[in-house]
Amino acid sequence: METTPFLKWAGGKRWLSQRILDLAGPIEGRYIEPFLGGGAVFFALKPERALLSDINAELINAYMVIKVDPGRVYALLKEHQFRHSKKYYYSIRDYQPRCEYRKAARFIYLNRTCWNGLYRVNLKGQFNVPIGTKSAVLLPTDDWDALSTLLRSARIVCGDFEETIAQAVEGDLVFADPPYTVKHNLNGFIKYNDSLFSWSDQVRLSDALVSARNRGARVIVTNANHVSIKELYKNHFQFETVYRASVLAGSPTHRGRFEELLII
Ligand SMILES: C[S@@+](CC[C@H](N)C(=O)[O-])C[C@H]1O[C@@H](n2cnc3c(N)ncnc32)[C@H](O)[C@@H]1O
Repeated sequence: METTPFLKWAGGKRWLSQRILDLAGPIEGRYIEPFLGGGAVFFALKPERALLSDINAELINAYMVIKVDPGRVYALLKEHQFRHSKKYYYSIRDYQPRCEYRKAARFIYLNRTCWNGLYRVNLKGQFNVPIGTKSAVLLPTDDWDALSTLLRSARIVCGDFEETIAQAVEGDLVFADPPYTVKHNLNGFIKYNDSLFSWSDQVRLSDALVSARNRGARVIVTNANHVSIKELYKNHFQFETVYRASVLAGSPTHRGRFEELLII
């Protein structure tokens, strides 16, 4: 069964999923992912039992309805594909459906056709990303039934990471991929949804992960390769530097490598 992420998501970990799979090995208990986003590692791992969560309610709603009725989501996306145009994009962007299925289809439609798959909301919580260059709403890689089958073995929750990590027990594996914030950068908060991920959230996260490990859960974390993050985790975890390839500004001469940190 082929399942790939159905969203383009900032900080997506598709590029690192093989390394995480290798580290994960067989999981006795549940796979727990408290910062789900596009779920790249979950989809690569295909765990038998999972607890998935994120603070973004629209994102979590999309997972929930795909789990229950993938055919209905597909039918609504087909309609968006048929009607897609610049004018239609902005009319859907301004529209707030009440039905959970329409909400999910709108979310996926906007994710696939907006500028760079970005998720950004204004102070009123309204999605405000302009239209992008891509017009494919349905992709050849989509397999909504396979996604639904896989999601049926997962509990999906909207909420803060701390409540999710608190549920980890012996035998579970927690994979935490938070927004990256480093200590020197207190003014440059990473903005996701309508909430900020501050340095105190990073401290709260490391405390929650240390407690989970003390209860017997295994823990894998990603973060910025920064001295403040190393300081935070150094008493309980080991580090591995990982490299993400990137092509900047479309120029092959600006090919670069970004360093990130695996905390294990
Ligand atoms: C780096 S992204 C995760 C990307 C994911 N690993 C992937 O492959 O697509 C971080 C996620 O954390 C979520 N998030 C931010 N603050 C959170 C919080 N306090 N509790 C739970 N999730 C949070 C964001 O909504 C975002 O989806």
